[in-house]
Amino acid sequence: MKMDYTSYKDVDLKGKKVLMRVDINSNIDVENNKIRDSPRIRALVPVLNEIYKESAVIILAHQSRPGNPDFTDLDIHAKEIETQLGRPVKFVKDIYGEEAINAIKELKPGEVLLLNNVRKFEDEMKEYKDFSEAENTAMIKTLFPLVDYAIVDAFGAAHRAHASIVGWPKMLAGPITDKELENLKKIMEEPEKPMAMLIGGAKAIDKFKAMKYNFDNGKLDYALCSGLTAILIFEALGKNMGEVNHKIIDKDLEANKDMIVAAYENYKDKIILPEDLIINDNGNRKAITIDEAGSYNTTTGDIGPKTVERFNEIIAKCKTIIANGPPGIFEQEIFRKATNEMVEAMVDATKKGALTIIGGGEMGAAASMAGKADDVSFISTAGGAMLEILSGNDLPMIKALREKKL
Ligand code: 3PG
Ligand code: MG
Repeated sequence: MKMDYTSYKDVDLKGKKVLMRVDINSNIDVENNKIRDSPRIRALVPVLNEIYKESAVIILAHQSRPGNPDFTDLDIHAKEIETQLGRPVKFVKDIYGEEAINAIKELKPGEVLLLNNVRKFEDEMKEYKDFSEAENTAMIKTLFPLVDYAIVDAFGAAHRAHASIVGWPKMLAGPITDKELENLKKIMEEPEKPMAMLIGGAKAIDKFKAMKYNFDNGKLDYALCSGLTAILIFEALGKNMGEVNHKIIDKDLEANKDMIVAAYENYKDKIILPEDLIINDNGNRKAITIDEAGSYNTTTGDIGPKTVERFNEIIAKCKTIIANGPPGIFEQEIFRKATNEMVEAMVDATKKGALTIIGGGEMGAAASMAGKADDVSFISTAGGAMLEILSGNDLPMIKALREKKL
């Protein structure tokens, strides 16, 4: 992936009106309309102080997707940024209408304004193959002339060719992207071996493909599989994981079964699958074997102690460890244990000199909630975007930055 774009460092931002598209998509406790813990907001706050202190900053961002329960306005994000920043953050429940336009016009250097959830703009989420089409959307046409610079720094959403990510006629890369690429370069180039990938959470097939790509190119030595990726593999191999699990992965399974089985056959010594899984047994954690999953037919929300032990052994002997997705359903207290134990294992590996990178919101949140955020090498703000990089793909955001440099 070429990175010949214009950076925020190439211009003087002092006194300027700067629009920054960032990714502060966060884990939200919907019942209480509260942000749980947001590594992405924590990554944003210092750059507001260090880089943009003397600029008038307009922040554009999204939360979730239309139709999801956590598809909220960004007023709670404004509050959270304000609390962490220690100075006021203005919020308008508008994106490019009159209220937003007036607020942008009135904004002074040193002030911060957050616009509303950009995915409420109906043309935002088309996948724009042709970036000039995105340039012609009403939002871009309205906002771009109001600012001196558009800085696109939504690294966590860099794999989306959405209007606010690829549509600015001229774009600069921001500090979050710089830092991410600097860290991820270490695994894109020559990672120190042995290297392990800890794979969990959702997006099972994407993670499987990223794993396969890195086995095929010889970089990866071990894949520690949990979450839906493990379920997908087990089902491909003919295990019955229960209808509750099966129905989440059945489309991916149907479309990719032969590829999964063939790749598994090729790399089965290096793919470490769970030996035990955890179910919720009337509020208690109950460990079951893989063969029992079908008859219990319930959510297997975490990995069990035998699996944790096996994963620990491997992590301890690796020099590079990348985690993408938590091994358990981290949002639910009962399924949180192994995620914390894996964070712990990565912290220990870091102390012994390994490069440890955590991607995807949940595991980063787990690390910070355990007070361990600074004890691993790097917590990426990206999940899906990191997977694309790990799969050797270019990112639309980076491509747009290259094409639309100053
Ligand atoms: C994420 O959280 O993965 C990014 O913010 C992108 O969101 P999306 O997967 O809904 O496009
Ligand atoms: Mg996501």
